[in-house]
Parts: sequence; structure tokens; C-alpha cells
Amino acid sequence: MPTIQLKTPIPGPKSKALAARRESAVPRGLSHATPVYVAKTEGAVLEDVDGNRYIDFTGGIGCVNVGHRAPEVIEELQKQLDRFLHVSVQVTPYESYIRLAERLNALTPGKFPKKSFLLNTGAEAVENAVKIARAHTGRQGIIAFEDAFHGRTFMSMALTSKTHPYKVGFGALPGDVYRIPYAYCYRCSYSLKYPSCDLYCARHLEDTFNRVVASEDVAAVIAEPVLGEGGFVVPPQDFYRVLVDICHKHGVLFIADEVQSGFGRTGALFACEHYGIEPDLLVTAKSLGGGLPLGAVTGRTEIMDAPGPGGLGGTFAGNPLACAAALAVLDMFEHKDLSRRANELGAKFQERAKKWQKLWPLIGDVRGLGAMQAIELVRSPETREPAAEKTKQVVNYCYQHGLIALSAGSYSNVVRLLVPLVISDEQMNEGLDVLEAALHSVAEKNMAVSQPVS
Ligand SMILES: Cc1ncc(COP(=O)(O)O)c(C=O)c1O
Repeated sequence: MPTIQLKTPIPGPKSKALAARRESAVPRGLSHATPVYVAKTEGAVLEDVDGNRYIDFTGGIGCVNVGHRAPEVIEELQKQLDRFLHVSVQVTPYESYIRLAERLNALTPGKFPKKSFLLNTGAEAVENAVKIARAHTGRQGIIAFEDAFHGRTFMSMALTSKTHPYKVGFGALPGDVYRIPYAYCYRCSYSLKYPSCDLYCARHLEDTFNRVVASEDVAAVIAEPVLGEGGFVVPPQDFYRVLVDICHKHGVLFIADEVQSGFGRTGALFACEHYGIEPDLLVTAKSLGGGLPLGAVTGRTEIMDAPGPGGLGGTFAGNPLACAAALAVLDMFEHKDLSRRANELGAKFQERAKKWQKLWPLIGDVRGLGAMQAIELVRSPETREPAAEKTKQVVNYCYQHGLIALSAGSYSNVVRLLVPLVISDEQMNEGLDVLEAALHSVAEKNMAVSQPVS
């Protein structure tokens, strides 16, 4: 039996009623990609308050690579519920925190001695990576990339690139943040082509140290190994090797933000592994917690130990429930070969998406690594003018037909795949069928659709 079961037009009456309550209770600054109010989840399936079932290609924005309510996670959570909830690791520490740190130290790229420190969110982990990098180097500058997304708190917002809606009106932002172009080959900032460009964008960092900020004043370069919110952009194979070599030549740390690309999403536990690089600091969150809020900074021991006692912390950071969930997540990666599954899902997506690209000029680019896949929609393949409105129409069509999908990109013209890696082949095909129908509808009929509640 197909998984998708729509009992009402979407949104259903109960979702609509909740949207009306939300209107007066919650600020408009919090927007929703869909008007669907959720009631239950399992694996790669969501059920809404009206009893409609959807395939989920978004996984809570990449937080449930192991699936919604993974039985292994639930089991460990239930055991932890019987032991203790919050005590604060800063007062009376507990073994699961230490065990999780040990496992992150062992699993992250690099054989050198490491330490890990836990937080609640990705943004908080990014903030702390910056604190640690500054404390270690005694330098202040941080270089981030165009199209980067690192969070919504002040420092992580300053590191984030996209202006609307993330930064507009919220300044003054923290200083000493510098920005350089990413290896976004489809929209190369230098209008060059790989490989004849000889990785001009990576090599340009040397020039930045001459013309923009002295390397002696730069603590770190921070990068998402594969861009997340910026549109699932996959840099060329040798990009990071060149970039990291330049950083290290100048005593600048390299921070990898694997908040979205981590935990099997790209077909390896960490995307850095594809590039053969060992970041000085690695930031994780999202799927680490298997559905619970958890972030981490993992890095070289001598760097992690730079801040003095009491310099790092947070009342809830490394909450015992989140630690229990994360340990179950790591067990699942050890026993279930979810990274292999990510590659299968990615190949399936690519095969279908390449066919769509031949059919419809709307699809300018198909790209991805493992199950971190996306299509970029354009008004014309020649001009590559972003098709943001049509992207919104595709996403709307999807939820109206039983698929929860999400856009991305600095120009809001990318449809991305963040499907739970436990999805079955049948469910994946059902979801891809809906996406195909959405693209067909938007590309050929340019239908009019209702706007989601925001
Ligand atoms: C790469 C990256 N870094 C940081 C963040 C911020 O994480 P959080 O929303 O948990 O603060 C995100 C969130 O999407 C992200 O994708």
C-alpha cells in the first residue's frame, strides 16, 4: 500500500485551525515551509493532525538521518528517563557525556589526540568553535564564505552570508568577520571553469591575506564542506586540500562546520572524509542528536584546551537525554551501514534528476554527494537566472500531494534532499514520483498555487 494517504485537501481543517491560533500567539518572524501541523512520525513518514500521511524528504532539516523516532534511539531515551534528566554537567557530571566525547574523538577525521565539548544547537557549537579558535591563536579574525549558513545567534549570524531574511535589520553584527567566495562552480564568482581555473577561489585566500586582512590577525577559516542552506554546493575534490594548506602555512585554523553535512548525509560519516582533510576543529549538531537538540565541537587537544576552566559551558549543554540519543545514533552508524544507504539514495536521486534535467530547462543543475542531493531551478539554462518563485511552487505542490520537501540557496531556488536514510525503496520512489509530478506541473503548466502560511 502506498505510504502517502491524503484524507483532506492540504492544509486540512485541524492544521488550518492551528494556523489561526499560531497567528495570534507566535511572531511572524518564525515562518513555516508548509502549513502542515504534525501529529506523529515514524522512519521517513509524517502524519498530520488531520490524519494525512506524507513522505518526509526533509528529516526535520537534516536532524534525523537515522529516521524519525528510531527504535534504537527511543530505547536509550526510555532507559535514561528512568535514571535522571537534567542535573547540569557543570555541577555533577555523568558518564554518558564522557563516552560521547570519547566516541566523537575517535570517529572524527584525524588520528591526533582530540577532545570534544557538547552544546545544545549548531549555532551554539559554531559560537564556541570561534571562542576556542580565538583563545588558542590569540587572534580575532574569522574568514567565512559567501553562501555560508552557520546559524542565527549573533556570531553565527555574522558568519552567515544570506542577508534576507537572516541578517537584515539585526545589526550591528560582531566584527572581524571577512568573507570570500565559495567554490560554487555553477555560479563561479570569478566566471572561471573547473579544472582550468586551477582552484583560483581557494588560492585567492593568499591574496585575501595581502589585500583584506593580515593572516597574523586571523584565527580561523570556517567552511561547510558541502554547503547546506546555501544550496548543497559540492566543491571540487582538491579545493579543501589547497585551502587548508594555505591556512596552516599561516598558522590559521581550519574549522569544518558539519552541522548539516555530518552523520552519513554525504555517504561518509563526515563530508571532510571525501576531501581527505583533517580539520583543526569540527562542529556538529542536527543528526548527532537523532531528533534531540545537541551540538558538539571536536578538535585537536591543544586547541580545545586553550580556554581556561569555566570558559566553556552552558546550563543544558550536553543534556543526558541528548547524550543517550547520540550514543544510540553512533551505534546505528556502526551496525547499520547507513553511509552506504546514503550513497544508494543519492544515486537513485541523481538518476531521476538527470532525466528531469533533460526534459525541463527549469532544472539548471543537479548536484550532490551521497544523499545530500539537490536540483537548482533557473528561468533559463543560458542565463541561469534563479527561479525562486517556481521553486516555491514546486515545494507547495509537493506538500499538497503528500511529500514534504524543502528549498535552499542564496537565491531560494534549490530543492534539496534531506531524506532520513532509513527510508525504504518504495517510499523513496513514491516521494520522487511526487517531486517529478511537481516539476512537470511547474515546468510545463506553470500552474497557480496557494501560498503556504507564513
Ligand atoms: C551548516 C550549519 N551550521 C549551523 C547551523 C545552525 O544550527 P542550529 O539551527 O541548530 O543552530 C545550521 C542550521 O541549519 C547549518 O546548516
